[in-house]
Amino acid sequence: QTFLFFIQFHSAARNLLPTNLCLHGPAILRKSKLLFVFAKDFVSFSSASISIALNMNMHSLLKLALICSFWPTITPLSLNYPAVFNFGDSNSDTGGLVAGKAFPMIPLNGETYFHEPSGRFCDGRLIIDFLMEAMELPYLNPYLDSVGSPSFETGCNFATGGSTILPADAASPNPFSFNLQISQFFRLKNRVLALLSKDKELQKYLPAEDYFKQGLYMFDIGQNDLDFAFYSSTSEEQVLALISKLLSALKDGMKRLYDAGARNFWIHNTGPLGCLPRIIATFGKDASNLDELGCVISHNRAAKVFNMKLHDICLKLLAQLPEANCTYIDIYSIKLNLISNYSLYGFQQRLAACCGYGGPPLNFDTRIACGLTKDLDGSIVSANPCNNTAEYINWDGNHYTEAANRFVADLIRTGNYSDSPQLANTPLILT
Ligand SMILES: *[C@@H]1O[C@H](CO)[C@@H](O)[C@H](O)[C@H]1NC(C)=O
Ligand SMILES: *[C@@H]1O[C@H](CO)[C@@H](O)[C@H](O)[C@H]1NC(C)=O
Ligand SMILES: *[C@@H]1O[C@H](CO)[C@@H](O)[C@H](O)[C@H]1NC(C)=O
Ligand SMILES: *[C@@H]1O[C@H](CO)[C@@H](O)[C@H](O)[C@H]1NC(C)=O
Repeated sequence: QTFLFFIQFHSAARNLLPTNLCLHGPAILRKSKLLFVFAKDFVSFSSASISIALNMNMHSLLKLALICSFWPTITPLSLNYPAVFNFGDSNSDTGGLVAGKAFPMIPLNGETYFHEPSGRFCDGRLIIDFLMEAMELPYLNPYLDSVGSPSFETGCNFATGGSTILPADAASPNPFSFNLQISQFFRLKNRVLALLSKDKELQKYLPAEDYFKQGLYMFDIGQNDLDFAFYSSTSEEQVLALISKLLSALKDGMKRLYDAGARNFWIHNTGPLGCLPRIIATFGKDASNLDELGCVISHNRAAKVFNMKLHDICLKLLAQLPEANCTYIDIYSIKLNLISNYSLYGFQQRLAACCGYGGPPLNFDTRIACGLTKDLDGSIVSANPCNNTAEYINWDGNHYTEAANRFVADLIRTGNYSDSPQLANTPLILT
């Protein structure tokens, strides 16, 4: 039922053809139980395969394969990893801050999906949860969560809400900045290897030794560095001047992981910071600092500069670390697309927080956080959640809703918003 089909890879002919067909291609291919391998240097297939293929309307599949091979970025991302090690902030925190700092998370978080607080700053699942589902792996257990029956067999999550790339100081919301997350990883790895050498049975709860090499190392961090810098800086230039420092710290951490055997890296770039209700409410009072979407220009500009340099990190890793694989995921463009085209994608609120106070357009008041009741100017008010979180992109003024996270994860999976430069040189299997 399965046959391999090799197609010459014409890099010169890229970008000629529409993307839609290739997005639907994988489903068609799966249905016809064909396995397409795009290889660089040759066209060849066996005669047995041809007869199967003829039965399956070879002609249209051939055309599809050709079109998709001309459009290499529209190949769904490979999500075939035995384990995931994730480093980040609240965008991918699956319970680290709550476990590590006994952070008093309000119970409304989790209401849509988990129906109890799940340690996530969201009404439901995060992007990383949807990606784990797509990999058919369980949700990631936070490194810091020791209560219950944590399993690290298929990975570990070091992300904690409020974390920065730069080392935490006394003013930081938590001590678990990127350097500490990397140290935690090394502690985990050393403990795992020591324990496994004593008792193989522990493999039920701990990653096998080779998972550290085959696993996926994901990074989604930097948003808080930029966010906090705008509060403490006197000018946008000061914030921009920080960016190189951030990225060199990130690269050093990734290099340390590579030296310890990590090979597969995924970097999520940072989202449009200037479109968060809290940022708009704080920095958008002067309308000249707002763009046509109502987002804060300076913050989005800093995010874009950060992302440009982050992309370079991927290229540098590939150039300097011969066995590294690096995939750069353009979260910024996905989120901006969602915010710009919200009604097209079934949302009713572009910028407003679902859980907040103050009504349209932002439903956000910096004085009262989601879930709280307070005396504001002499009257008692509450920041309650909306009735239909699926109509909102933003959850609490700072984080996205489960509905938005699902949208982002779906677009990540199309491969249309990622860049993995080494793909052009290696066979890619679509299943
Ligand atoms: C890097 O990716 C290529 C192509 O997907 C794959 O063949 C190779 O095994 C990967 N390297 C490692 C070390 O996993
Ligand atoms: C919004 O959708 C249109 C039409 O699909 C697309 O051309 C445009 O790029 C989208 N906007 C963003 C910011 O992605
Ligand atoms: C939610 O629905 C109830 C009942 O339909 C309505 O009274 C209330 O105003 C709604 N709340 C919000 C925040 O829209
Ligand atoms: C894929 O990306 C291209 C170029 O950025 C864009 O024109 C196209 O609309 C995207 N398709 C989807 C489904 O997002």
